[in-house]
Amino acid sequence: MKAVHVLNGPNLNLLGIREPETYGLATLADIEARLSKLCKPRGIILHFRQSNHEGDLVTWVQEAGRAGEPVILNAGAYSHTSIALYDAIKAANTDVIEVHLSNIHAREDFRRQSLIAPVARGVILGFGTASYELALEAFLTRIEAEGNRPYRKQIMKSVSHAKKLPWRRRQRE
Ligand code: DQA
Repeated sequence: MKAVHVLNGPNLNLLGIREPETYGLATLADIEARLSKLCKPRGIILHFRQSNHEGDLVTWVQEAGRAGEPVILNAGAYSHTSIALYDAIKAANTDVIEVHLSNIHAREDFRRQSLIAPVARGVILGFGTASYELALEAFLTRIEAEGNRPYRKQIMKSVSHAKKLPWRRRQRE
């Protein structure tokens, strides 16, 4: 059966009591329950995890990459600091969607930069718990379209697209 990994970084275990004006009142267990509701009817396994340790997140991204299973990652503060996560995502043979509950661009300056965004397939932020649901919908749509084929990183799309550019066609004519 196909699976999606949802990985949560430091301090996200405190959701519900941590700065509710910024992060809302939903707990991490609430988010897991919502995502599980979306996955179950479609027969998708949800691996939902949280750690306060950077290395755990790196290991889990590696595992998902080996299995070719997509990742939704809220790396918390490590999003702004972790070259190790950047490397792990870049090396992983799967897509990672970076998510944030809050709009990191509307907050302190040090949150405006995400080191992992350049290697993520996409970024969804600012929608509270819906950031996770939107990311999951994006993956479920792709998984359904792929049928039985394994989920793999979408890197060749832009290359093959480039071959179809009109100026290239003109060159060949
Ligand atoms: C966060 C934003 C980060 O800047 C912060 O360190 C978090 C949560 C978010 O979901 O909005 O821990 O990732």
